[in-house]
Amino acid sequence: MRRILILGAQGQLGIELQTAFASAGEVVAVGREYCDLARPESIRSAVTAIRPALILNGAAYTAVDRAETEPNLAMLANGDAPGILAEEARKIGALLIHYSTDYVFDGSKPSPWTEDDPVNPLNVYGRTKLAGEQKVTQAGGRYLIFRTSWVYSPHGTNFLRTMLRIGREREQLRVVNDQVGAPTTAAALARATRTVIDSGVQDADCGIYHMTCAGETSWCGFAQEIYRRAPAAEGRKWPEVIGIPDTEYPTPAKRPKNSVMSNAKLHSRFGVTLPHWQDALEETLAELCEGA
Ligand SMILES: NC(=O)c1ccc[n+]([C@@H]2O[C@H](COP(=O)([O-])OP(=O)(O)OC[C@H]3O[C@@H](n4cnc5c(N)ncnc54)[C@H](OP(=O)(O)O)[C@@H]3O)[C@@H](O)[C@H]2O)c1
Repeated sequence: MRRILILGAQGQLGIELQTAFASAGEVVAVGREYCDLARPESIRSAVTAIRPALILNGAAYTAVDRAETEPNLAMLANGDAPGILAEEARKIGALLIHYSTDYVFDGSKPSPWTEDDPVNPLNVYGRTKLAGEQKVTQAGGRYLIFRTSWVYSPHGTNFLRTMLRIGREREQLRVVNDQVGAPTTAAALARATRTVIDSGVQDADCGIYHMTCAGETSWCGFAQEIYRRAPAAEGRKWPEVIGIPDTEYPTPAKRPKNSVMSNAKLHSRFGVTLPHWQDALEETLAELCEGA
């Protein structure tokens, strides 16, 4: 049975990858206590000890705003570590699946970004993730990089969980309406990754692919849809959501205006299409309600 190493076992994507790949082989899922992205030796020894045929890297430094004041740590985890992982994967002939971000783009394009469009990250996080893409590509092994966006799940810290929490405390919320993207569930990403792997990855397939849920919205539109679909507590109403420009909600890290990425390459190469973001939201809300 082939061995599959999943990094970031406790992260949003790492959790869903464990579910999606449970029947695909012998899964070994590790967290930072076993494989710390900031310690190259722990990456090397994890790969050497486990000798996987497939590595799914769900681990990353994802605190976009904090990265502005911790650029070195973010670069170690997002830039250097994927390169080391890719080198180790090449040495044992493993296929590496790595995830990157819409934040490699500057948001200036009025239509969806394709894999051939020029990158120009606006923030430290985006620069470190771009460095990771470059190091994985240059390592010379077998790899796929999936760029995704606005990831959320029933677990961890994310926009959906934040809206559900603060929605219970407020009557009105002001949410940015001039940044547009595709909210994407970790479950949809993990399942799409499994479909790609099951389709049989050839050496010629190695490269970068955009992988997001279909459709697009703003953060404001996402918040409104959450409150439209989520059941409110008895006797309560969800808050009114008012759209504001991002200039009225300053954050340490600048974010792109248009984050929407075309998935055409993913579809044409692997026949994979992710669900519409509204359907994926419905599924996640149902899962959250079940667990409540
Ligand atoms: N979240 C988004 O909106 C978003 C958007 C675009 C792309 N992405 C990309 O999608 C992938 C998955 O993100 P996610 O949303 O699942 O992130 P997440 O929920 O924040 O999980 C990240 C995981 O990485 C682990 N990690 C962080 N620093 C580490 C280190 N030094 N050593 C080992 N593990 C470390 C975390 O461990 P701890 O639990 O110990 O902290 C956590 O388990 C990442 O590559 C991310 O860059 C995410």
